[in-house]
Amino acid sequence: MQSGVRVCAPTAALLGPLCRGCLSRARSLPGRSFSCSPRQSSRWNSQETCSPPPPRDNPRVLITGGLGQLGVGLAQILRKQYGTENVILSDIKKPPPHVFSSGPFVYADVLDYKHLRELIVNNRITWLVHYSALLSAVGEANVALARKINITGLHNVLDLALENCLRLFVPSTIGAFGPSSPRDPAPDLCVQRPRTIYGVSKVHGELMGEYLHHKYGLDFRCLRYPGVISATTQPGGGTTDYAVQIFHDALSTGHHECYLRPDTRLPMMHISDCHRATVEFMQAPECQLSLRTYNIAAMSFTPEEVAQEIRKHLPHLKVTYNPDSVRQTIADSWPVRFDDSNARRDWGWSPAFGLEELVADMLSAIRNKRTNEGLPIS
Ligand SMILES: NC(=O)c1ccc[n+]([C@@H]2O[C@H](COP(=O)([O-])OP(=O)(O)OC[C@H]3O[C@@H](n4cnc5c(N)ncnc54)[C@H](O)[C@@H]3O)[C@@H](O)[C@H]2O)c1
Repeated sequence: MQSGVRVCAPTAALLGPLCRGCLSRARSLPGRSFSCSPRQSSRWNSQETCSPPPPRDNPRVLITGGLGQLGVGLAQILRKQYGTENVILSDIKKPPPHVFSSGPFVYADVLDYKHLRELIVNNRITWLVHYSALLSAVGEANVALARKINITGLHNVLDLALENCLRLFVPSTIGAFGPSSPRDPAPDLCVQRPRTIYGVSKVHGELMGEYLHHKYGLDFRCLRYPGVISATTQPGGGTTDYAVQIFHDALSTGHHECYLRPDTRLPMMHISDCHRATVEFMQAPECQLSLRTYNIAAMSFTPEEVAQEIRKHLPHLKVTYNPDSVRQTIADSWPVRFDDSNARRDWGWSPAFGLEELVADMLSAIRNKRTNEGLPIS
């Protein structure tokens, strides 16, 4: 277990009006300005006690890379809890009309440090959810760009989080493990020698965030997500994407060609569990966190197992297998199961969806969508 610096009530009181991170930086980084107001600082300190938190302002949230598979749904949940105007989605892509009209959206390139700083300062951001990334398969196809977005972009975000006393969430992945990691299950702490630029950049993120937490008190929080499955948003080029496509194919043509072998087992999660885990983890008091990077798990299945479960609803589904060497090699180096016992113990993580519930929900959501769009159903 990590020796996380946990500052609960008595120490927080000693720190006075500055948040712990800012105080450390005031000592250790001469010449660098910091901008915690006393009001903001006392709020941070109060969150570090284990007693019920007193009423406080809503966080002001910025989500980077928000137009991918995960950002829009997370923004929706956070906006319900904290108010629409308090959650700003950002990306470098043009938002579709329904996203643009549903709440604040701004253009933000994570490689543009100055512009990102301006957004954070002008909008009085207190929580940053850093979703921008190139995923595993796309990253292998463009290593230089993946390195830029996943590492240089992350450094910009880390610096800004430190400078502005932000609570920073950066997701990691099953891809942060490699062939020498224990695979069944993979614990939170073990050997991590991934062989993709995506995995390498995610381990780098985990380590940098934890380093800045221990050295300067950055409130860094990281969850290793399994492959995320969603009916309404498209995956962005990862190795687990087949587990979304198979549902669309089952209801459109009745035939799915899978790029993985039928026995390739990987950890997976329904998107609503992923969003709930993220929100609950962001809300957890600091003193409950014995780690800064946690595995979260829900289920593990193979292509053949998910196909069997779909056939209980659509018996005609045909699946053929044509393994793609890049994605199969990546999948073979990843854990088949996550040990998430620390997340369950520390902040009460518990998934709602197993394979059966996931399949029923995905089929019903995609069927409704196709019906509404006037598309045929196989
Ligand atoms: N979806 C999953 O199954 C999964 C699993 C594990 C971890 N994650 C992590 O969760 C996060 C979000 O995943 P996702 O599936 O939504 O990713 P995604 O690929 O669907 O979306 C990433 C977004 O980042 C944006 N982006 C690219 N370059 C950018 C730049 N320079 N500046 C700002 N934005 C930029 C893209 O336009 C895209 O909208 C990622 O960090 C990913 O590594 C996702």
